[in-house]
Amino acid sequence: MSRYSIAVVGATGAVGEEIFRVMEELDFPVGELLPLASARSAGEQIEFAGKSIRVEELTEDVFEGRDIDIAFFSAGGSISEKYAKYAVEAGAVVIDNTSYFRMDPNVPLIVPEVNPEDIALWRESGIIANPNCSTIQMVQLLKPLHDLYGIKRVDVSTYQATSGAGKEGMEELVKEMQAFFAFKLGEYKPEAFAHQIALNVIPHIDVPQENGYTKEEMKMINETNKIMHSDFAVSATCVRVPVLRSHSESITITFGEDVDVDVDRAREVLANFENVELIDDMNNNEYPMPITTTDTDITAVGRVRKDLYSDNILHIWGVADQIRVGAATNSIRIAQKWIKLQEDN
Ligand code: A2P
Repeated sequence: MSRYSIAVVGATGAVGEEIFRVMEELDFPVGELLPLASARSAGEQIEFAGKSIRVEELTEDVFEGRDIDIAFFSAGGSISEKYAKYAVEAGAVVIDNTSYFRMDPNVPLIVPEVNPEDIALWRESGIIANPNCSTIQMVQLLKPLHDLYGIKRVDVSTYQATSGAGKEGMEELVKEMQAFFAFKLGEYKPEAFAHQIALNVIPHIDVPQENGYTKEEMKMINETNKIMHSDFAVSATCVRVPVLRSHSESITITFGEDVDVDVDRAREVLANFENVELIDDMNNNEYPMPITTTDTDITAVGRVRKDLYSDNILHIWGVADQIRVGAATNSIRIAQKWIKLQEDN
């Protein structure tokens, strides 16, 4: 098998570090590896496959003459906006973890279990976008149910971990917990979030929009239909909770008027979907929780039940590791499909 030269932009961040871990675990065919970050971290070492590799500063010309095949970007939208084009010009495919390119009609937005065929459009721009973390784990559950019954509407409330705000977000939760146990929580000034996140929940993720929703909620609404090639209604309420790194979602799915949901059949198609695991046994206290999925690559689903009033409505509960399924693992799975496409042609 060929080996591929890989650049990771944001190599010192929560997602960048996880990309190295997932590449090692999945035995990704890495040739050369170029870890990139800001000038602050240039010169630091990252460990990969038993070797120490020096982090370099991301600059406009750092990709020149390096023969990079795949460049993962995970350093924020403004960095992708400014630097992705230099990686593309140097001949790499960019797999971008930020929201910057996601709704660009020339950029495929990929969840490999759901719309792998769209990867072929990568040549239009040289860029493949990795969707929003909450969207990825939701569409992995919607896809088999949409194929089964045809979705008309989705209402989702999220319980999102602090990892969605990067290392700074996770560190803030830990510092606030430490301050709480030292009886000093009142003195701690939140920086990553608008309010204290320890012992609290915050119904506000990303910037408010004029329509009363937040940008995070609009990402879930817009990205879902782009990935699924669908046009059903979606409404989202996104909430930050004091969890380190797995997002949970309560999802209500409305099918066409004539559908009479068979819950066993719904459970079956969910359980059989790639990378989804059904954990649904209330009598034995078995259902997905953040501690179930953290540090794994599964999207867990449980609490599958029919609405008490309408035969065409189903309620489910989905959980997945935000840094892995919602970011690093999805990016690596995209890269694996991209490689297969190159090797098949
Ligand atoms: P650095 O550690 O040098 O600041 P997280 O999402 O966990 O907050 O991580 C953000 C990642 O994006 C880090 O690797 C960070 O590098 C990187 N980053 C932030 N600003 C820049 C920049 N101006 N140029 C390159 N990388 C950046």
